[in-house]
Amino acid sequence: MTIHIGAEPGQIAETVLMPGDPYRAKWAAETFLESPELVNETRGMLGFTGHWRGNRVTIQGSGMGMPSLSIYANELIRDFGAKTLIRIGSCGGMQEHVALRDVIIAMTASAVSTPSATIFREFAFAPCADWSLLQAAAAAAGRREVKTHVGGIYSSDVFYDERPDLNEQMVRHGILGVEMEAAELYTLAARYGCRALAVLTVSDHLSTGEALPAAERQSSFGDMVEIALEAAFA
Ligand code: HPA
Repeated sequence: MTIHIGAEPGQIAETVLMPGDPYRAKWAAETFLESPELVNETRGMLGFTGHWRGNRVTIQGSGMGMPSLSIYANELIRDFGAKTLIRIGSCGGMQEHVALRDVIIAMTASAVSTPSATIFREFAFAPCADWSLLQAAAAAAGRREVKTHVGGIYSSDVFYDERPDLNEQMVRHGILGVEMEAAELYTLAARYGCRALAVLTVSDHLSTGEALPAAERQSSFGDMVEIALEAAFA
């Protein structure tokens, strides 16, 4: 039991999927895991442990933004022994060839700042995915119908962005999409010798302004969860 995770020692699996939304953790656990057990509800940040194809896995909400994710990822790694952490979440599409419902597998996660910026100071650390997970996720995506992109994303500190000029530069430099958590997850995984990846579904598009209707969000997120699970246990 830690400050933010009420699970008993041993109740968290070595492989953890991390959606931002705790209710998406519940949905994913009930949809994809055999006999999921609620292991955390501190602050309503639900976590479940169950089995997928015989492999033990936890699905734990991270909350929105890098400071929140950092709390959960730190405790999962340092106190509960998590070794493989895969973010599953939504992102905003940034390139023209990236459409709503597409999946993005984040090879790198750029950021203006992360909770780790105080360590790096002027140094621009390059947060990147674990190669074995990235490769396995790309292979898993290739076996499915869903259109998938592999490349760089950008982790922002704000959803309501006041820097259109920065987005222009991101687009110009080939950034596929924007979300708010992956850069810190990749940085923590590097620090503690864990494997990390972010598999994202495009839920809105920054240049067209389109967005998935709320009712459709859940159903189009299934591919992303299965790609993450297949990658984790490849
Ligand atoms: N910005 C930041 N995070 C997001 C977005 C976005 O447009 N869409 C989904 N997560």
